[in-house]
Amino acid sequence: QREKWFGHEFLYEFHGFWFTKTYLETTQKVLENFKPHPKDVILASFPKTGTTWLKALLHSITHRYDTKDENSLTFNHPQELIPSLETNLYVQEIPQNNTNSQEFISTKNPQKSRILATHIPYQIFGGVLNSSDCKVVYVTRNPKDTLISLWHFLRKSKNFEQDPWELGAAVDQFCKGIVPFGSYYDHVLAYREESLKRPQKVHFVTYEELKENPKNCVEKMGEFLGCPFEGENREEEIEEIVKICSFEKLSNQEVNKSSELPKVFPLPYNSFYRKGQVGDHMNYLEDEMIEKIDNITREKFHGIGFMYGI
Ligand code: A3P
Repeated sequence: QREKWFGHEFLYEFHGFWFTKTYLETTQKVLENFKPHPKDVILASFPKTGTTWLKALLHSITHRYDTKDENSLTFNHPQELIPSLETNLYVQEIPQNNTNSQEFISTKNPQKSRILATHIPYQIFGGVLNSSDCKVVYVTRNPKDTLISLWHFLRKSKNFEQDPWELGAAVDQFCKGIVPFGSYYDHVLAYREESLKRPQKVHFVTYEELKENPKNCVEKMGEFLGCPFEGENREEEIEEIVKICSFEKLSNQEVNKSSELPKVFPLPYNSFYRKGQVGDHMNYLEDEMIEKIDNITREKFHGIGFMYGI
């Protein structure tokens, strides 16, 4: 089944979720070919919920004693440090400018730990994730901010100019779940459930918690990943990671300001940084749009432990 999206794009249904044609193909490739090693860490998320931030944080936490890796965030976009399975790795052609990708994908050594990202829903990917002892970190974000972030992100695409994704239509489609990797709600719910069932396997964190208490979140992630912050310098180490991964710091690095187009992605690197704030939806959504989303959030997220203050 397919649904018109915007521009000339259609979204295709696969196991109850929605994909662009490209992502459907690459997701199927991932499902057929990707075998996680026990030492792998998979960063899972719905698009626009803080994936780039988490890429920077996870890389920094796990490489903090690696002297060869110093300044890696100064010279590399977080996408290059932690490639995404369906957007960077299992694509038709691995982009030349992403030299790490070849290495990531060809790692045969199960002892070598890799961090890889994905937007594939747990309902589809759970079997693969559970086929090894790999760990999963899942980040999510307030649905309204997620939608507004996605809407801005897509506004930069050529398709949008020709046939815009009107905000009203965007709200409707988001609520129906007809957005890439959607439904957002079903995506969050399955990873959330898994994190409650098996906290040693799936660590769940929200964008808002990270904004409010980043040090605490970094500390917990260190513990979860098996590289806890210990010793007398622990406070400084945590603070340093929070600082180098902050929106202010990352969005001002030359590499992240670049308007260069990565080969597999139709949008430039700098499109992964916009405002980096909580609550920006208030500047765009009308009252009835907010109410519409809040009603669904209330119904879907009832009883899962967080409600985003509604
Ligand atoms: P906004 O569009 O609301 O600014 P993703 O990485 O999943 O695509 O999510 C992108 C969103 O995360 C964008 O949100 C972007 O600005 C924000 N972001 C990127 N890096 C960040 C950081 N270091 N700290 C906080 N937010 C960040």
